[in-house]
Amino acid sequence: MATVLVTGGNGYIGSHTVISLSENGYDVIIADNLINSKMEVQNRLEKITGKRFKFYKADCCDEAAMRRIFEENSIDSVIHFAGLKAVGESVKIPLDYYQNNIVSMITVARLMKEFDVRKLVFSSSATVYGMSEDVPFTEESPLGVCTNPYGWTKWMLEQVLKDFAKANPEMKICLLRYFNPVGAHESGLIGEDPRGIPNNLFPYISKVAGGTLDCLTVFGDDYDTPDGTCLRDYIHVVDLADGHVKAIDYLDKTDDCVSVFNIGTGKGTSVKEAVAAFEKACGHEIKHVFGPRRPGDIAVCYASTDKAYRLLGFKARYNIDDMCTSCWKWQSMNPEGLSD
Ligand code: NAD
Ligand code: WQD
Repeated sequence: MATVLVTGGNGYIGSHTVISLSENGYDVIIADNLINSKMEVQNRLEKITGKRFKFYKADCCDEAAMRRIFEENSIDSVIHFAGLKAVGESVKIPLDYYQNNIVSMITVARLMKEFDVRKLVFSSSATVYGMSEDVPFTEESPLGVCTNPYGWTKWMLEQVLKDFAKANPEMKICLLRYFNPVGAHESGLIGEDPRGIPNNLFPYISKVAGGTLDCLTVFGDDYDTPDGTCLRDYIHVVDLADGHVKAIDYLDKTDDCVSVFNIGTGKGTSVKEAVAAFEKACGHEIKHVFGPRRPGDIAVCYASTDKAYRLLGFKARYNIDDMCTSCWKWQSMNPEGLSD
């Protein structure tokens, strides 16, 4: 059974991916420093899969701690989710973001080279397309100018990994550019569990629906879109998790050192449509008001999904209603999130 090291595997996307990997016959090892996740996730994963995964509480920037993981296990491939991801926070503490995101990836890449582990899937983001609104974004769309340090870390790491692969042509690296991951596992046992007041739309709506927050502010209703609110390509986290399994499988077949894929649905949903879909899922009104635009937001962002379909065989299965239903189940079953 091939073994995948999942860094950041205790987090939102990582934990869902651990389930998909396990369901597809992979052995999984998780490394996470718990900076943005709770250990309870491991108990939930055990409930869902019936398996207890090998877990290392380790910081990916800590070369000695990470070396131990490579020494103790026969690792076939790595999925690197570990990183800090809050856009607003990255503007306030940029050095922490550059340090954590860049050093963690470089440390893991060095160890992969040292231990001759050749397959890597890296969590990139649609944020690398910058402020362009030339939709749909294809993998050939030019990379843009990012509006925040978080975005730049993804942009820079894509370059770092391309250079790494060029110098080490035995490497097989897949850069997955996620669009807007939302939703939760159908069990309601794991989902997005942000600390404090959420910045992203779905966690915010969930908390308003659950009564923890009073009212959603919709950031701008004067955009040049059908209903005046921004369009995003929301993708169910379970679909996204499956995309990682397909990417790992693809790395066994491809001769390319670096492969880049968008992972989205190819469909734009407006903020108003997202609110309406969530109201349908939870069965009551979501209180919302319209406020000014949020700086740095673009009007439209959605993926061209052709390449992922053609080469990975990836196609999203879930629609916005499924995303809202699963989000609401997770929120209802865990109104305070997970305990430490
Ligand atoms: P998350 O914060 O839920 O998960 C990241 C996990 O990594 C957390 O469990 C955290 O404790 C861990 N971590 C952070 N730094 C670490 C380090 N140095 N060493 C070990 N563990 C560390 O975030 P997520 O939403 O699951 O995102 C996973 C990846 O996908 C991130 O790299 C993120 O930037 C990227 N991404 C996320 C989104 C999104 O909207 N959620 C979109 C595009 C890309
Ligand atoms: C979605 C829409 C908001 C909150 C972010 C990152 C991006 C990527 C995915 C990591 C926008 C509107 C939001 C609210 C609102 N992450 N909104 N009221 O900004 O598309 O993408 O997550 O790589 O890099 O920037 O997602 O969920 O914050 O916003 O009206 O309280 O919801 O204006 O139109 P975004 P989001």
